[in-house]
Amino acid sequence: MGVRPDARVAVLGGCGFVGRALVRELHGRGYRLRLVTRRPDRHRDLLVLPRLELWEGDVHDEGFLREVASGTQAFVNLVGILKEDAPGDFVRVHEELPARMARAGRGLRLLQVSAAGADVRSESAYLRSKARGEACLRALAPTAIVVRPSVIYGPGDHFVSRFRKLLPWAPWGLPVPLAESLIAPVHVDDVAYGIAMALARTAAAGENYGFCGPQALPLGDVVAAIATLCGCARPRGLSARMSLLLARLLEHVPGTPFSVDQWHTLKAGSVCTAGAPDLSDLGVAPRPLQEALEALVRGWA
Ligand SMILES: NC(=O)c1ccc[n+]([C@@H]2O[C@H](COP(=O)([O-])OP(=O)(O)OC[C@H]3O[C@@H](n4cnc5c(N)ncnc54)[C@H](OP(=O)(O)O)[C@@H]3O)[C@@H](O)[C@H]2O)c1
Repeated sequence: MGVRPDARVAVLGGCGFVGRALVRELHGRGYRLRLVTRRPDRHRDLLVLPRLELWEGDVHDEGFLREVASGTQAFVNLVGILKEDAPGDFVRVHEELPARMARAGRGLRLLQVSAAGADVRSESAYLRSKARGEACLRALAPTAIVVRPSVIYGPGDHFVSRFRKLLPWAPWGLPVPLAESLIAPVHVDDVAYGIAMALARTAAAGENYGFCGPQALPLGDVVAAIATLCGCARPRGLSARMSLLLARLLEHVPGTPFSVDQWHTLKAGSVCTAGAPDLSDLGVAPRPLQEALEALVRGWA
């Protein structure tokens, strides 16, 4: 059964970038929301929404997840990391958490946000762990919905904003690793709309949706479009070998701006599988990149 708009939906990772867009979308449709965060003090601004609860707790504690699930009709998992702070983080966050959600949320509508390119045979530990998480969830909850987004952009993102900050520092042209890798950037509001539609639609049960923008483009072209919009020099593509060398260096820099595993993730590309269910099957027409990018870079959105 699809989730009715007066239902309560629990969202893990709901205070993050995608989470906030999803909150706007679901709250606007009339849902009651229960968001789980490790740091509620940082997200008090969300409490202005009348049908929203902010719960502090550890999503890795199954007993706590059972409490979170009580009185809800759906469970959405947006918790994800791009890199490990400690060995085993990918397993804990991407593989064990979806299984925990499935056990704690037995009988609820479950929705897991994975990633385009997730593959158990990938050389990227990030993409392997995302694929294993999908499998763990499916084994326990065959009717769970999985969505696999490509790179997500929009206000407050980790993608356009990063290049916008870096580009002015390279007046001779920012070096872009693996510039030929294909990505299909999708706007965060289209992702949120797609998730809301998937929750509401009975027929979405057990489906695996690719969430991609309308165009698959080389990363270098997308960065070049951002550079043009902010009046910066055209970026320069780095070869795969040079990019790998850079990753080997940067993964030892505090904050790990780029790691070898991220190099593998980028090399795999981030596009949707042709013929697989996608946003259009949920009635969503993803917006063209150029227009949305213009609004974002010029600060109109
Ligand atoms: N952004 C993209 O381009 C993109 C592309 C493909 C897939 N995805 C997937 O989409 C989902 C949402 O992405 P996002 O961009 O919104 O990420 P985000 O802004 O980093 O938010 C993720 C949330 O997960 C929680 N979290 C992170 N590490 C955690 C940990 N170790 N234990 C418990 N909670 C943890 C954090 O919640 P608190 O700090 O509030 O506790 C954070 O707000 C993720 O699964 C991501 O892999 C994103």
